[in-house]
Amino acid sequence: MKLIEKINGLKKEKNAIILVHNYQRPEIYRVADFIGDSLELSRKSAEIDADIIVFCGVDFMAESAYILNPRKTVLLPVLDARCPMAAMADAEGVRELKKRCPDAAVVSYVNTSAEVKAESDICCTSANAVKVVNSLKQKDVIFVPDENLALYVARHTEKHIIPWKGWCYVHTKFSAEGLKETRKMHPNAEVIVHPECKPEIIDLADFVCSTSQMVKRVGESDKEEFIIGTEVGMIERLKMLYPKKIFYTVPPGATCIQMKKTTLKSVFESLDKEQYVVKVPERVRLKAKKALDRMLEL
Ligand code: 13P
Ligand code: SF4
Repeated sequence: MKLIEKINGLKKEKNAIILVHNYQRPEIYRVADFIGDSLELSRKSAEIDADIIVFCGVDFMAESAYILNPRKTVLLPVLDARCPMAAMADAEGVRELKKRCPDAAVVSYVNTSAEVKAESDICCTSANAVKVVNSLKQKDVIFVPDENLALYVARHTEKHIIPWKGWCYVHTKFSAEGLKETRKMHPNAEVIVHPECKPEIIDLADFVCSTSQMVKRVGESDKEEFIIGTEVGMIERLKMLYPKKIFYTVPPGATCIQMKKTTLKSVFESLDKEQYVVKVPERVRLKAKKALDRMLEL
C-alpha cells in the first residue's frame, strides 16, 4: 500500500487531523486536511475537534496548537524541525529587556518558544503584525524576535519599536541586486515578498505579506508573472494553485531546511507510533495562551 493511503487509513482509524504549513514539501500537501500560514493554522488548531493533531511545520507551530487546544494530542513528525529564529529569543532575555523598558508592551511573533510567549502581552504573525502593534495602548513596543519584521512594522506605525536582534536565515538570503536584475528581465512581473526580508528587499516590493496573503494576492492580481521573495516551497504551492501564472524567486532563492525535514514517511511514523508528542508545562501554557488569545480576538 502507498504511504498516502496508509496515512489516510491511520487518520480515519485514530480520528486525526493533519495541519500543514505552506512551506512544506508538495507531497505533504496531499495528506493535508488544511494548508495555511501561521495565523490560519493557529486559528484552525484552536477549533479542531479530532483526537490527534499532526502538525507538519516547525516546533513553535505545534507548540501553539497545544497551547490553544491542550486536550488534543499534538504530534510533530520530526523532533528537530525547529525554527532557528524562534530559538534566538529566550525568556530570561525578554524579562531583562522588560526591566530596562518598564513602560513598553511586549509583542512576540508566533515564531517564539512558549516561554517567550508567556512573557508577552500579545502575539502576532506576519499577517497581522502591524494591526497588533497599532492595537496597543503603550507607546513603546518591544518586538521579539525578528528585527526585520520589527523594522517593517515600524514603517507602518507611530509607536516606538524596540526590536530584538533575531533574523530568519532564509529570508535574509535574498539579494537586492538580484531582485533588480530579475525585475529588469521580467518588467511586467509583480514583486511580492515576506516581511521577514531585509529592508532593502522590502523597498523594492509591490506587496509585502504573509504566505497565505500571497495566495490571495496572486489570485486577485491581473498580472501573469510574479517575483516571490519567500521560502521556495511557497512557489510550489502557488504553481499548483495557479498553473497558468509564472513565478520567479528573488535570487538566489532560499530553502528552509527545518520545514523540509517532514516527509511522508515521518508523517506515517508519527501517526503510527504517536510521536513526537508536544506539550508545554501548564504554568507556561496558561500565560502563553493569554498572549495568543489576545491576538486571535483582534
Ligand atoms: P507565515 O506566517 O507567513 O506563514 O510565515 C511563517 C514563517 O515561518 C515565515 O518564515
Ligand atoms: Fe523559521 Fe525562517 Fe524557517 Fe520560517 S522560514 S520556519 S522563520 S527559519
